[in-house]
Amino acid sequence: MKLTVTVIKADVGSIGGHLRPSQRLVKTIVEHVNLNRKGLLKDLYVSHTGDDVAILMTHDRGVGDPDVHQLAWKAFVTGTQCAQRQGLYGAGQDLLIDSFSGNVRGLGPAVAEMEFEERPGEPFLFFAADKTDPGAYNLPLYLAFADPMNSPGLLLSPKMSRGFRFVVMDVSTVDKDRTIELETPQDLYDLATLLRDPERYVVESIWSRASDEQAAAVATERLHNIAGKYTGKDDPVMLVRSQMNFPATGEILSPYHIGHYVAGAMRGSHQMPLMPVKLHSPVSFFDGPPIVSCAAFSVHEGKLTEPVDVFDHPFWDAVRSRVADKSIEMRRQGFFGAAMLPMTELEYTGISERLSALRKRFKLRPEPASKPRVLEPVGSDGRIVS
Ligand code: F6R
Ligand code: MG
Ligand code: MG
Repeated sequence: MKLTVTVIKADVGSIGGHLRPSQRLVKTIVEHVNLNRKGLLKDLYVSHTGDDVAILMTHDRGVGDPDVHQLAWKAFVTGTQCAQRQGLYGAGQDLLIDSFSGNVRGLGPAVAEMEFEERPGEPFLFFAADKTDPGAYNLPLYLAFADPMNSPGLLLSPKMSRGFRFVVMDVSTVDKDRTIELETPQDLYDLATLLRDPERYVVESIWSRASDEQAAAVATERLHNIAGKYTGKDDPVMLVRSQMNFPATGEILSPYHIGHYVAGAMRGSHQMPLMPVKLHSPVSFFDGPPIVSCAAFSVHEGKLTEPVDVFDHPFWDAVRSRVADKSIEMRRQGFFGAAMLPMTELEYTGISERLSALRKRFKLRPEPASKPRVLEPVGSDGRIVS
């Protein structure tokens, strides 16, 4: 049976700044989808991570279905009205275009979806990150799907050892989707060359080379490409299928122990380590650190099991404490060097405005009055060679 899993997420308002949506807002969104899902959805799971609400839906309509997308869009519009009534901060901030036009792509909300033949046992993982951008998943995906140091399945499983096809998007191209396909293991160094620049090159999807099945789908929308300016960090969602021809769930989760540095946190303009958190966690320290949550599901004929909150385990408490230490270390250097993002990624215009003003005040010193004296060449005996 062919199944589509679609997750659409948006920030349409939150309490106390950018911390988390109100319970009433989430309830409003759930009620709207439940009231209008008949004949459209097989199942549904609504969650929130930081200030973002995600609507995970199963159906049989394929990717990019206008009715499924419109259902989520209208739920977020209804949520926005609730946020306005409650005085939440940033009400409707991710709904960048006034009217829906068939697909939420390019309108503000982030989308990850894939259609596949449901396996007899179909486990998949739903990731949601807040206060960061889609490149945050580059390193964990590279390690899970291409590095045997992380994923022994690449050596142990004959199917996995055939490798994977990565579709990578150049998210700096605004008017069209610019993508490249690279196959591991043979294109590993090419892949690494692109993924090392996560603000520009982002994994969009991953496919098994053994079976041609899709393993992963990442929301690659960049809000500033849509709005023409920064309107907030993109806060990407991602779906990853696990086991059999794909990495095991544990291989997919393992890289999150690193707490790698990603773009985001305060005013979307810093480098901070990514902290794996429990479902429905708010953000806190320095509008961060950037967080990622993960719900593991099994699905049968479109019906979802209850989620397993994979980062709710004593192991991840130890990781969180180390990531908190890394965050504090980075914050000790304030705005200097690696702590703040490069100019092109800053969410605010303050620094570039200040630099333009300062540029006028720079002066070139006049040429020195007399040219420096050219020293006479000296021979090995210390005498001047004439
Ligand atoms: C992401 C997020 C940030 C803010 C950004 C702008 O979830 O909250 O990227 O959108 O810091 O914040 P304001 O609008 O408060 O200037
Ligand atoms: Mg926000
Ligand atoms: Mg957010």
